[in-house]
Amino acid sequence: MSKTQDRERFVVAPHSRPAFARYARLHEDRVRDRFVVLAPERAYEIDAISLAVIGLIDGESTVAQIASRLAARYGAPEDVVARDVTALLQGLADKCLLRDGPDSFTPPPLSTLATSYAPFAAGPAGLLAELTHRCPLQCPYCSNPLELERPNVELTAKEWGETFRAAAAIGAMQLHLSGGEPTLRRDLEEILGYAVEAGLYSNLVTSAVMLTRERLEALAKIGLDHVQVSIQDVIPQSADYISAFEGGVAKKRDVAIWTREFGMGLTINAPMHRQNIDHLPKIIDFAVEVGAQRIEVAHIQYYAWAEKNRAALIPTREKFMESVKVVDEAKARLKGVLNFDFVIHDHYATLPKTCTGGWGRSIVVVTPSGKALPCHAAQTLPGLVFDDVRKRDLGDIWRNGSAFNAFRGGDWMKEPCRSCERREIDLGGCRCQAMAVTGDAAATDPACHLSPDHARFAALAATEAHAAPPPFVYRRMSGAGKETV
Ligand code: SF4
Ligand code: FES
Repeated sequence: MSKTQDRERFVVAPHSRPAFARYARLHEDRVRDRFVVLAPERAYEIDAISLAVIGLIDGESTVAQIASRLAARYGAPEDVVARDVTALLQGLADKCLLRDGPDSFTPPPLSTLATSYAPFAAGPAGLLAELTHRCPLQCPYCSNPLELERPNVELTAKEWGETFRAAAAIGAMQLHLSGGEPTLRRDLEEILGYAVEAGLYSNLVTSAVMLTRERLEALAKIGLDHVQVSIQDVIPQSADYISAFEGGVAKKRDVAIWTREFGMGLTINAPMHRQNIDHLPKIIDFAVEVGAQRIEVAHIQYYAWAEKNRAALIPTREKFMESVKVVDEAKARLKGVLNFDFVIHDHYATLPKTCTGGWGRSIVVVTPSGKALPCHAAQTLPGLVFDDVRKRDLGDIWRNGSAFNAFRGGDWMKEPCRSCERREIDLGGCRCQAMAVTGDAAATDPACHLSPDHARFAALAATEAHAAPPPFVYRRMSGAGKETV
């Protein structure tokens, strides 16, 4: 039996006793006047009927009993209710959010801390907290800026706590504790405690190489919901070369397995490029084997360090298309076992992504020193002023900060976006990519086939991908000044 067949889909039946996994929970989103199920990197909105069903799942009641109670409550035919209840629960089970029967973990309480923050009702759904730029790895596609922030400017744990409360108050539900490597913060436990108090769903985004079993267990006890382990490859020699760090694969495997042992959600994050793309099937096997519910297969975005290393990272179109096939096949085979997020390769796209959910619409990033950014790469855009969360209320920054408003709405758009019917869908694509490729942050994202720069953008990939890869320029704390190959 292949490793990927060891785990099975939870098929919901009348005798099943569904319960939420420890890493999924109901959340009253008062800012947007709705209920959601919070899950790894997601918030699923639920309607009143689904809420009635979800209120009855406790790991003890069977699906048949739940349907019978609801049928009596609403005076509806039991067979119709049973069918609808099963369909709803199967949907949640296929997102890997349910288990059959109770487990030893106490479900977290209903989280309701967000308060209404009129008139700006649609605050950010998530906060990406870059706790530090320090990192033991040196990945050549790191999303941190070329000028890394020094440890002596980092926000204190208390300042992070204030930032979390301010973010929750304007509607943030997901908190990504990121870096650099967030576990290098000795006060991570205190920081996580503030996140739990603020009612945020906590994701630890980590390379995992510094974590011990004891520390991970302590974080689980404080209330960590989810761990995202980033991997460079599953072939040790290749992973060591990409990260400039020895022995990472074995450590990541351990941390991933402990994460599941302690009941937390687990995502494997696999940035894809020409130096690991042939190993994608093995990377998917690894994710299943360690018990992940989610995998992100993300073709590299070329800004910051990745832009410097583009020629060493960019795959050919043929390899990219192969990766699409591998993921499509695995998605079908692993339904209900492993969920996929697939980020396509912009150079081989014809339409751009709605980057970061739209500029100033979905996420706020706070750098180690407290600068609030609309996207993690926003500092690559010239002329923007980023407010400091120590000096200005986060809600005020979100609503009125000049950087957040720079690319909201459509007034900044140029042709062809300005008169395009997709302008409300993709919002003109990625501002940072437009800047990196065209030198104009307000230009159409060159990933779009209507962009005047698209042909050049695609041709560049074809040329670089077919040439021999140059050595990596590794990311180093010393910043762009010292490039090390
Ligand atoms: Fe999107 Fe602009 Fe391309 Fe239209 S022209 S599809 S709005 S990027
Ligand atoms: Fe900044 Fe896309 S990465 S808008």
